[in-house]
Amino acid sequence: MGTVGFVGLGDMGGRMVRRLLEAGHTVVGYNRTRAKAQWLIDKGMRYADTPRMAAAAGDAVLTMVTDDHALEAVAHGPDGIIAGLRPGTAWAEMSTVSPGAARALTPEVEKRNAAIITAPVSGSPITLDAGQLSFIVGGDPAALERLRPYLLAIGPTITHVGEMEHAVAMKIAINLNLAVQMLAFSEAVCLAEKTGIPREKAVEAIMKSVVASPMVKYRGPFIFDMKPFFSVPMAQKDLQLALDLGRARGVPLPSTAVVQQWLTAARGLGLGDYDFAVVFDVLAGMSGLAPSKKSNAR
Ligand SMILES: NC(=O)c1ccc[n+]([C@@H]2O[C@H](COP(=O)([O-])OP(=O)(O)OC[C@H]3O[C@@H](n4cnc5c(N)ncnc54)[C@H](OP(=O)(O)O)[C@@H]3O)[C@@H](O)[C@H]2O)c1
Repeated sequence: MGTVGFVGLGDMGGRMVRRLLEAGHTVVGYNRTRAKAQWLIDKGMRYADTPRMAAAAGDAVLTMVTDDHALEAVAHGPDGIIAGLRPGTAWAEMSTVSPGAARALTPEVEKRNAAIITAPVSGSPITLDAGQLSFIVGGDPAALERLRPYLLAIGPTITHVGEMEHAVAMKIAINLNLAVQMLAFSEAVCLAEKTGIPREKAVEAIMKSVVASPMVKYRGPFIFDMKPFFSVPMAQKDLQLALDLGRARGVPLPSTAVVQQWLTAARGLGLGDYDFAVVFDVLAGMSGLAPSKKSNAR
């Protein structure tokens, strides 16, 4: 069992740390808002006052923060991760950031004789808790081998797809499906309900049909109990990364562009604190149907 530094103890990062602790690893964790780390400290995590201290604590460091801006904030500066890296340390950057963001850190990481790979994840807090999170990895295979025991403690599937940028591009390509599928599911439920089929019955029929993908199976029921797992702004971040990448590479993404507008409408209606499944409410409202049940915004 090893010691790993962990930066970013949010919805995903916190649950990852719990799994690392349960697997017997020592975790030295940092979060910008310390109070959110307390439940992990109670479970045995050692708290680091700065990202630098987390990075310096072990032979590996894992990061799981919001976006490019957050990654920059925890990576640089006298208290940043890079300043704490020891020779031989391997860093897995797991956040969903733009394809070039982690690559841009590489020269500084290598100056410290350390290595960085990208390891974005496909899944949700539900998938993570169920031990089914999958990693899409890009970059130095030798660094991946050093990080593999930690990643496997979090999730069972690691797919190495090539260079650092490839993993993030693959993750963004996968993620655009989430919102597109949720919008299609919402259209199906609203159409069925407007013809007189009760909402519960329509969802039951969809769940027994060929369109019941794993995503639809776990997120579809959110229209009865809106959980705060992947907020509208967070989903919009990923869709925008996809649209930017599509434009740069000459790939039209028409359904991605459409669902992005629906999520902007959700924010305009004051629903931005909910899971992006709340796109259902935008469509239901425009169809004269009742909104989802919502008990728990972020
Ligand atoms: N939620 C999902 O279903 C899911 C699934 C797959 C991938 N992801 C990706 O995983 C990453 C994290 O998602 P999450 O759901 O865990 O989000 P989250 O709960 O909002 O956590 C975000 C983390 O980033 C930190 N952070 C944000 N801005 C920062 C800054 N400027 N400086 C330092 N720390 C900062 C937050 O610190 P504070 O606590 O202080 O705010 C928190 O630790 C995102 O890139 C997301 O796209 C999420």
